[in-house]
Amino acid sequence: MPNGPELAIRAEHVTRDFGPVRALDALSLEIPKGIVFGFLGPNGAGKTTAIRVLLGLIDPSAGHAEVLGLDTRRDGSAIRTRCGALLEHPGLYERLSAYDNLDFYGRAWRIPRGDRQERIRELLTRFGLWERREDPVGRWSRGMKQKLAVARAVLHRPALVFLDEPTSGLDPVATAGLREDLAALAAQEGVTVFLTTHNLNEAERLCAQVGVIRGGKLLAVGSPEQLRARGDSGRVDILTTGITEELVRHLAGLPDVRTATASGDHLAVSLSNGASVAPIVAWLVQHEVGVEEVRKVRATLEDAFLDLMGAETTNGEAAGGTT
Ligand SMILES: Nc1ncnc2c1ncn2[C@@H]1O[C@H](COP(=O)(O)OP(=O)(O)OP(=O)(O)O)[C@@H](O)[C@H]1O
Ligand SMILES: [Mg+2]
Repeated sequence: MPNGPELAIRAEHVTRDFGPVRALDALSLEIPKGIVFGFLGPNGAGKTTAIRVLLGLIDPSAGHAEVLGLDTRRDGSAIRTRCGALLEHPGLYERLSAYDNLDFYGRAWRIPRGDRQERIRELLTRFGLWERREDPVGRWSRGMKQKLAVARAVLHRPALVFLDEPTSGLDPVATAGLREDLAALAAQEGVTVFLTTHNLNEAERLCAQVGVIRGGKLLAVGSPEQLRARGDSGRVDILTTGITEELVRHLAGLPDVRTATASGDHLAVSLSNGASVAPIVAWLVQHEVGVEEVRKVRATLEDAFLDLMGAETTNGEAAGGTT
């Protein structure tokens, strides 16, 4: 095997051009087996293109990628046999029942009858769809269809599954439900999940690692924790006694203080990058302001994401969707 068994995906400087459009720009990525990896980025960032390259559906213009140790250029069909995928189209037959949809795919995967029945029952039960298994899928809600589409993608117990925006168009409850199902699936079956999403909240809750892509370039990769740390908000909330407007104005003029605002006894200070809060507290104490509590406000993944988008935005265009 050309790569270690611990890697599910390895991309090395993968570039993909569509005419004049560079959809992927020297993308390098290493994704270990058994994790949920979230690929984040605004519309047109190159997420779907990356999945298509990794599945061997299109070739890179330059660079090289391996999936489960297989070369995407050479072994595309072997990769597609070993992987599950949910691309933009859910791939369901609307006139067939849910059960028959899965049964159809199970036959296509040549899963023996007994195993097939057991697996279908297991997945439909897990996704809360078992009671409705005889309904034609055309009558189902979007969320139910989406769950069925995920069930279809993992039916043959692939080692790796690609899910392109699995929760797009779902309401918050359905999103949370599917997210939990995906987390359980990943944990119980040890399947590696590569998903794309615009939903940072989702990525933060579900993914062990996330990659942020924009304009075909990978801007950052790491755990949500690590990315949040990069986007350290620099914000500190201080609960005081006796802060005055005049002191707030003074505070705002101190070195390392970007902004300072107070509402009642709550003081919110934004520090410049990497600055320590200790001198601020000392200054307050010196000015006879009581300090009851100091709390660093953690950056969310969304802060980090917008930070990254902002850093790469040179022409003032919008930072990209976060819904
Ligand atoms: N078949 C194609 N022919 C021409 N251009 C393409 C093709 N596929 C993708 N592109 C271009 O490549 C870029 C990346 O597209 P891609 O679909 O990978 O983005 P995405 O990150 O999946 O976006 P979204 O969040 O909207 O799904 C876009 O500029 C797109 O127009
Ligand atoms: Mg896409």
